[in-house]
Parts: sequence; structure tokens; C-alpha cells
Amino acid sequence: MLTGISTSAAAAAAVLPCTLLVSSSRFSPLTSSLFPPRKISIQNSTFPANSRQPHMFTTPMSWLGKLGLGFGNRASEITMDSSSSAIAQGPDDDVPAPGQQFAQFGAGCFWGVELAFQRVPGVKKTEVGYSQGHIHNPTYNDICTGTTNHSEIVRVQYDPKECGYENLLDMFWSRHDPTTLNRQGNDVGTQYRSGIYYYTPEQEKAARESLEKQQQLLNRKIVTEILPAKKFYRAEEYHQQYLEKGGRFGFKQSAGKGCNDPIRCYG
Ligand SMILES: *[C@@H]1O[C@H](CO)[C@@H](O)[C@H](O)[C@H]1NC(C)=O
Ligand SMILES: *[C@@H]1O[C@H](CO)[C@@H](O)[C@H](O)[C@H]1NC(C)=O
Repeated sequence: MLTGISTSAAAAAAVLPCTLLVSSSRFSPLTSSLFPPRKISIQNSTFPANSRQPHMFTTPMSWLGKLGLGFGNRASEITMDSSSSAIAQGPDDDVPAPGQQFAQFGAGCFWGVELAFQRVPGVKKTEVGYSQGHIHNPTYNDICTGTTNHSEIVRVQYDPKECGYENLLDMFWSRHDPTTLNRQGNDVGTQYRSGIYYYTPEQEKAARESLEKQQQLLNRKIVTEILPAKKFYRAEEYHQQYLEKGGRFGFKQSAGKGCNDPIRCYG
């Protein structure tokens, strides 16, 4: 399965945060040779039950950016004019299929979060994208600059007759650590913030009640934001159902309903 990829390169890439696993494969040999992965102690960051194994290494984006290897090239072109921001901060005006509803969640790198929601019975469609930021039509590179304030979001389309919103909330809490501000494991940045973005007053109420319940179970303060859903910018096609399609190395992960296989968040 690893044809064409050396084991060490594969191992190095497998532990990089997904911000670095973008299509430009030219980054990975370069980054792994120039910057050996930095080990970070996470022994005390207890994730809630059945969450993913946090990955152990990271290569900070800023090092790449400083050397012109990062995603800064377009940063100078990012214009945060007010009309662009007004569109981005506007409501999601897409329409779900008849009888279905939308829900949006941000819980760190969207690949693993999407796969978790794909497996929930009653979820009819999932998409990954960017929302809550300040520029219209952002690209992945834009949001990785950390300057646009977009979050990596999964937009779930579900049939409320088959799947209560509460089920989605339960999955949301179980998938990540909601007590780390702008961070999941070693993925650090505002794009990884924890958030529930509601479409209706009912969703908002359920989300707030669910947060309170969840807070009783945790001894650290939950920092999850609960805000109205805003315009959803569907991410580039290669990000969609990324893990189901096999991630970077072609190891497909099941999106079957009810599947409980541990999710390898980075492929
Ligand atoms: C984890 O935290 C507990 C209490 O907060 C402390 O007693 C323990 O030494 C910590 N363990 C590590 C590995 O830091
Ligand atoms: C980023 O967006 C969040 C809402 O998702 C908001 O609370 C925060 O103030 C924003 N930060 C900036 C710098 O605009």
C-alpha cells in the first residue's frame, strides 16, 4: 500500500498535523528533513472517552512561513475589506434537501470529525469547509495563515426523524477535547477551535443545555463557542471524505453507519 513512499517519510508525514498534509507533496520531504518533529508532552491532556489518540509530534507552521516555505504567499493578497467580511459573516443561505436539516461543528482538524459524523445513522451527507471568518471564498492556504479567523467546520445534513440533534451533539463532545482553546492535541490555531454553530433556536437551546451537561463531566472549563451558523465555504475537493477515500496513503477507513473502528485522523 505504501508503494512509492519510503517508510520513514510515511512515518514522519503520518504524525504531522493536517495543516501540513496538503496537496503540495513538495512540502513533506523538505519539512521532515529540515525540521525534525518536535516532541510535545501531552500526558496530562486527557481526552474524553473514545476520542482519538492525539498525535505526538508537530512542526510549527511559523517556521515554514518564516523561511518562505509555508502558505504565506497569498497572505499579502488577502484583503479583508468590509464587503468581503460582510458576506463571510452572513448566514448560510444553502438549503438542505427536503425534510433534512443542517448542523455545523468545529472540533479540530475536519478530516476525522467528518468521518465520525459520516458514521452516524440518520446523517445523510457531510461536507468539510470553512466558516466564521472574515474573507469571502477562502482557500485552505488562506485559512492556514491564521489571519482570516475561519474555523475548520463539518456541515452535517441529517434527517431529524432518524437522528436527533442530540445524537450529533453527543458525537461532537466525544470527538474532541472542548477545554483547549484554539487547539486539539498538537493542532494549534484558531482554525481548530471548538464550536457549535446553530441554524435554529431549537439547536441553540439544545447546544447550550448539552454544554452544561458536558461541563458536569469535566473538571476543566469548556471553551466551546456556540454561535449562529454563518456562510459555509466548502473546502477543496481533496479534503472531502478524505479519510474514507484513503487519506494520504490509501488506507481507506470505513464510513459505514455505526462503525466503531478507531479513526486515524491523519489517514
Ligand atoms: C497530571 O496532573 C496531575 C494532577 O493535575 C498530577 O498529579 C500529575 O503529576 C500530572 N502528570 C503528569 C505526567 O504531568
Ligand atoms: C473569530 O471568530 C470568533 C467567532 O467564531 C469570534 O469570537 C472572535 O472574536 C473572532 N476573532 C477575531 C480576531 O476576529
